[in-house]
Amino acid sequence: MKHPYLIDLNDRENWLYPIELFGPDGHKGEDQRTINMPEGPHKELCVTDSVMYPGKSSKPSELHCHEHRIGYEDFFVDSGGLDLYINGKKTYVAPGNIIHLQPYEAHGMNFRAPTKYRGFFHDLGNSDNSPVIAILRAKKPNAMQDPNFTKYMMGPGDIYMREAPEWVEVPPEQCPNVRNISRPMAEFKLDGATMKMITARWENGGVNELWGVEMEPGFYAEWVEYPLETEMYYVTAGEVEFTVYDETFVAYPECVVKIPKFASHSIVAKSNAVMYDIAGKTRWYAFLQDRSSILYYEPERAKKPETMAALKEKFGCMIKKIGRK
Ligand SMILES: [Fe+2]
Repeated sequence: MKHPYLIDLNDRENWLYPIELFGPDGHKGEDQRTINMPEGPHKELCVTDSVMYPGKSSKPSELHCHEHRIGYEDFFVDSGGLDLYINGKKTYVAPGNIIHLQPYEAHGMNFRAPTKYRGFFHDLGNSDNSPVIAILRAKKPNAMQDPNFTKYMMGPGDIYMREAPEWVEVPPEQCPNVRNISRPMAEFKLDGATMKMITARWENGGVNELWGVEMEPGFYAEWVEYPLETEMYYVTAGEVEFTVYDETFVAYPECVVKIPKFASHSIVAKSNAVMYDIAGKTRWYAFLQDRSSILYYEPERAKKPETMAALKEKFGCMIKKIGRK
């Protein structure tokens, strides 16, 4: 039976609408499964798990170069590796990196080996198509190869094909689309954990922000009794014990944890662990920055409990206790 909160991406039981996608030349380009359907007006929390396959050649014309005009894509590259072509650059993306793509950034990919990547999206057109595509495929098995249908998959709407790109090759550190927890946009040290900003709110149309948290064993956080947002986390290293309502379980690498809003919950790191806040609704950057400012400039004000309570309220931080257990 499916776990109510823990989603092991490698457990087939968690794969919704598994689909094989083929290139125009008939070779298999992707095994894709939906993990979580998009939710709300910004189609947030949309998650896919894919294995991408090398093309027949790495010719620029076969890179499937395209742009989105609404959607934002983040890909956690977890195995294999790929060349990313974007904004006049080509760079190699190794496992452990995160690709961040904003609307109008035309991008193409060449997979050097079978590559497992996990996609987390918001505002992406067609991301809610999986159930109807499953019906279409059952009724018309050849539709996905029929140009009269695939033209609808490629827009109009959110996805538009682009010409083969020109590029200069650069190391990933010189490509702003390649993010890594070792090169955060901002970093804040807490007692027992370091919070690192991977993508900022202004890079996501204001919808969310992406943070990685490096935790030491014993790091603990407890949320308020009725948190007002759905939460989603992705564990990439170590073990994190969650308690949601009265249920306790351990999340481990390649697991997503989805916690419904209003559910009381807490976490404790059982080892050195790395976890990403996927939902990213809390305005962490504003909260942590203003908290640092008050601690630095007005230490007396910082000591008053109402100061931090007001700051948490202002930026949607629904954590009650944080630190070492
Ligand atoms: Fe894309």
